[in-house]
Amino acid sequence: MYTTLLTELSDHIFTITINRPDKLNALNKTVIEELGGAIEEVYTNPAIKSAIITGSGPKAFVAGADISEFTALGANGGKALAQKGQGLVFNKIENSPKPIIAAVNGFALGGGCELAMACHFRLCSDNARFGQPEVNLGLVPGYGGTQRLTQLVGKGKAMELMMTGNMVDAKEALQLGLVNYVTTAGDLLAKTKEIVQLINTKAPLAIRHIIALTNIAARGDENGLQQEIHAFGELFDTADAKEGAAAFLEKRKAGFTGK
Ligand code: COA
Repeated sequence: MYTTLLTELSDHIFTITINRPDKLNALNKTVIEELGGAIEEVYTNPAIKSAIITGSGPKAFVAGADISEFTALGANGGKALAQKGQGLVFNKIENSPKPIIAAVNGFALGGGCELAMACHFRLCSDNARFGQPEVNLGLVPGYGGTQRLTQLVGKGKAMELMMTGNMVDAKEALQLGLVNYVTTAGDLLAKTKEIVQLINTKAPLAIRHIIALTNIAARGDENGLQQEIHAFGELFDTADAKEGAAAFLEKRKAGFTGK
């Protein structure tokens, strides 16, 4: 159904693989539109509990926006490109009520780094390299990179990475907090699925609030503590919170239903 993505639903995990390996999975118009469709599936398909985004081939997660589409752009076209990508894909991933995790299997540059950063957290293979090289093209990141890189690695390092266009390797990405785990290329999907499978056993409504509240904190929203009080309280009215407490007291494993 997609021409630039491979998708697979197994064990309630929706794996989205960007599939243009000959172009290092660069994000052209079609990929952005199809990613928008795949993320919409995550939102709307009740069989999907969580998703993984990865890239096809041994070399790249995503080597950026497709530079061949830049030559025809002026100011309005550039703004429209960023607006569409942010609205259709990047912000939608960040605000997804279900976990979306990046398994970064190689280069994550420009829009690729931004795609990984829009996900709720990231794992990478030991050959992964991250960077925001837009400055080399006389540009800045347009898919949320200036904001999310700063949130993830702090202002000084974000400034350095964006001003130099330098890449960081997997080891440094781990030190910077850009990724949570580094694995071999062969183990990347298995390790990512292991974590996602654990998350899938938890209460979906609590997970949804964790995503929203953590996003509020990352944006520096002053209202975060109030929002937390509200969510904490609301969850007490759910069947899953009652099940969680009962299961603990009865010394058994909780069976959550998402209600
Ligand atoms: N947009 C369009 N095409 C891209 C691309 C991008 N962002 N990144 C890679 N490609 C294409 C190359 O043009 C090449 O296509 P071709 O075989 O038809 O010539 C193919 O993917 C393989 O890339 P290549 O550059 O030959 O691989 P490499 O191993 O020598 O270099 C990179 C790998 C990632 C260092 C290099 O491709 C690169 O710098 N890409 C651009 C990164 C970038 O600036 N991204 C930000 C965009 S805003």
